[in-house]
Amino acid sequence: MIPSIEWTSDNKVKMIDQTLLPHKLEFLELDDYRDVATSIKVMNIRGAPAIGVAAAMGMAIATLEYKDLPKEKFLESMEKAAEIIKNTRPTASNLFWAVDRIWKIIASYPDDPKNLSELVIEEAKLMAQEDITVNKNIGKNGAELLQDGDVILTHCNAGSLATVQYGTALAPVRSAIEQGKKIDVIADETRPRLQGARLTAFELHYDKIPVKVISDTSSGLLMRLRKINKVIVGTDRVTSDAVFNKIGTYLVALAAKDNDIPFYVAAPTSTLSLHETVNDVTIEQRDSTEVSNVLGKVQIVPDGVECLNYAFDITPFRLVTGVITEDGVFTHKELLKRYE
Ligand code: MRU
Repeated sequence: MIPSIEWTSDNKVKMIDQTLLPHKLEFLELDDYRDVATSIKVMNIRGAPAIGVAAAMGMAIATLEYKDLPKEKFLESMEKAAEIIKNTRPTASNLFWAVDRIWKIIASYPDDPKNLSELVIEEAKLMAQEDITVNKNIGKNGAELLQDGDVILTHCNAGSLATVQYGTALAPVRSAIEQGKKIDVIADETRPRLQGARLTAFELHYDKIPVKVISDTSSGLLMRLRKINKVIVGTDRVTSDAVFNKIGTYLVALAAKDNDIPFYVAAPTSTLSLHETVNDVTIEQRDSTEVSNVLGKVQIVPDGVECLNYAFDITPFRLVTGVITEDGVFTHKELLKRYE
C-alpha cells in the first residue's frame, strides 16, 4: 500500500481520503491545521497511529501559520491549535502522545519562533518514518506466531491505512507472507463505519493478500467450525487492565476464549498508556446517524427510534493471549513489567 499520510515538499499534509474507499482512491492536501483537525474528526484519516501522525503534522502546519508572531502570542496561538487538534477523537492515545511530543519541542525552544517550524516539521516527518519502522518490527515479532496455512481474523482496520504504512494487526500477516507462509485473512465488516469491509478488504486485495469479509455476527460460528485459527486486532489505547479497540472487539475476544483460539493485540508502544486504568478513558460516542443510516445514506430504523453509537470497546486482559509490540510478544504480566 502507498502511505496513508505524508508531508509534501510544499509543506502540506497529503492523506488518502479514507471515507471514499473502496470506490475511489483520492487524496486530500491540507495546509490549515483546522482542516487537519476536521479530517481526523470526520475520519478522512483514522486508525490510532495515523491519527497520531496527522496530529503532529497538523501542529507543524500551525507553526507555519504563527511563526511570525511574537513569542508569547505564538505560544498562545499554538496552545489553541493543540486544543483544537486534541479535541477531535478522545480514545486513541496516539493523538495526545503526538501533540505532547511536538509540544515538548515548542515549549523548550529558547529563541524567536521563526526557526522553530523547521524543527517541528522535521519531528513530524520523523514520527511518520518511525511509525513504519515500528510496524515492520511488530510484523517480524508477530510473524513468529503464525504458521503456514493459518487463517487470521481481524476486526476493523489496523492495517497500512490505519498507520503511515504496513499496519499493526496486519503487519504480522504481511511479514509472514513475505517469509513465504500461506496466510488467509478474514475481516469482520465492522459496523457501523465498515472499516473491515471497506478498508481492510481494500488494502489486502490491493496487495494481493487473500481476504474474505464476514458480517460482524459470523466470527463465533467460524471459530467453532475451526475456519479461523488466530485473531489479531489493533488497539487505540492499552491501559494497565484492558485493551481499547473498535466496538465489537470484546465480543470477538469472548468468542475466541470460548473456542480456545489465541487472541493477540498488536500495539506500538506509542499506544501504551499503562499508567491509566479503564476508568480514565473516554469512550468516543459518535453521531447516532452512523448507526441509523448505512454509510450516512439509507435509513434502516423507523423514524423516531434512538440509536447508540459507542465507537470503542473495552477488552479485559484475561481475554488477551499476548500483546505484540515492536520489542516482542508479551503476556499481560510481562507487558506491565516491561513498560509500566
Ligand atoms: O474508528 P477508527 O477507524 O479510527 O478505529 C480504528 C481501530 O479501532 C483500530 O483497530 C485501531 O486504531 C488500531 S489501528 C493500527
